[in-house]
Amino acid sequence: MENLSALKPPYNGLNFVPETLPRGFYVDAAHFEAEMRDIWCRNWVYLCRAETLEGPLHFRTFELGTQPILLLRDEQNELRAFYNVCRHRGSVLCSEPSGRLPAKMLLCPYHNWSYALDGRLTKTSSKYPAADFNKSDYPLHGIAITEWRGFVFVHLAGEDAPAFKPEFDLDSVNLDHWPLESLKCAHSSTKILDCNWKIFWENFSECLHCPSAHPELSDLVPIYKRAYQDERDDPQWAEHAQSSDPKYKGGLKPGAVSWSMDGQAHAPQFENLNEAERRAGHNFVIKLPSMMMVGHVDYVRILRMRPLSPTKTELYVEWLFLPSAMAAPEFDITPIVDFVDLVMAQDAALCALNQKGLSASAHESGVLMPEEYVVHDFHNWIRGALK
Ligand code: FES
Ligand SMILES: [Fe+2]
Repeated sequence: MENLSALKPPYNGLNFVPETLPRGFYVDAAHFEAEMRDIWCRNWVYLCRAETLEGPLHFRTFELGTQPILLLRDEQNELRAFYNVCRHRGSVLCSEPSGRLPAKMLLCPYHNWSYALDGRLTKTSSKYPAADFNKSDYPLHGIAITEWRGFVFVHLAGEDAPAFKPEFDLDSVNLDHWPLESLKCAHSSTKILDCNWKIFWENFSECLHCPSAHPELSDLVPIYKRAYQDERDDPQWAEHAQSSDPKYKGGLKPGAVSWSMDGQAHAPQFENLNEAERRAGHNFVIKLPSMMMVGHVDYVRILRMRPLSPTKTELYVEWLFLPSAMAAPEFDITPIVDFVDLVMAQDAALCALNQKGLSASAHESGVLMPEEYVVHDFHNWIRGALK
């Protein structure tokens, strides 16, 4: 007898009813601390583009949750990262967000301990340190750092960090054909979202909300109007398998090539993209928990996430272009930035509603629908990461 299930075309949707993460994961301060410890301190996290530290002695400071980070270039232009804390009594070493060190050393502003740029303690201010005080016992606490294609990632475990692997999460593609190393930031913006950081990822991971929340985006990406993200999200997808209509196949509407107010490119298109990458119009790469990259034909958009509290998250967005495009007199990315701002504001409003609703103690957890299979993958990633 014929095996009917073998003939059924693969379909992305879930065929069971998983529970969401429990409410406490979104509101409890103790749980937030557990995620900072088990997730944010145990994964490589994106901080910034390498080009934002222009040369030797340039530094930047960041806070990741409660953890202060100091990033600098040493005399040899090598990137280094430390916890931004002095080994004496724990003062912050650099309080400015960025700048250039006045000398080849770090000087604590409290009692003037000084450190070499490789983190060695070189001098204390005590006139008669105890005989068994050994400066080599007090180097700065190191943070592991790596540069990948122009992006700086850190791992707070320092020497215990696993090697960085350019592996990506959820339904990521890759951006091998984009000249990521050569791009420069033409515009950036910071937004504070009134939600837990996981709510942002959940919102990003499904399109059930797209038809009602994102009319402009759903017009540009016709499959979103059907509340699907991918051709195979539709149980009946095989019936349309021969169609090239973007409402079935995904990709942008006819005549559109990029995410912008008019669907047009506003910089020369990248040369090495293949036909599928151009047709897709957007190519998503996720590095949990901190980063999303989206490759468009004319620019790359980066989102960096930073949890501030159980109910607040900072989103930092960068728009990257080729320097040659930025130098052109006609360079104007207003239609690109406006479109992204519009879609992000729509999502931010929904994320805030989601967070507010989760205050209700009656809501212990929710359920996922078949189309929310990427949300389910994300939840499993969270569950697996927590000790
Ligand atoms: S806390 Fe840094 S020198 Fe005292
Ligand atoms: Fe959305």
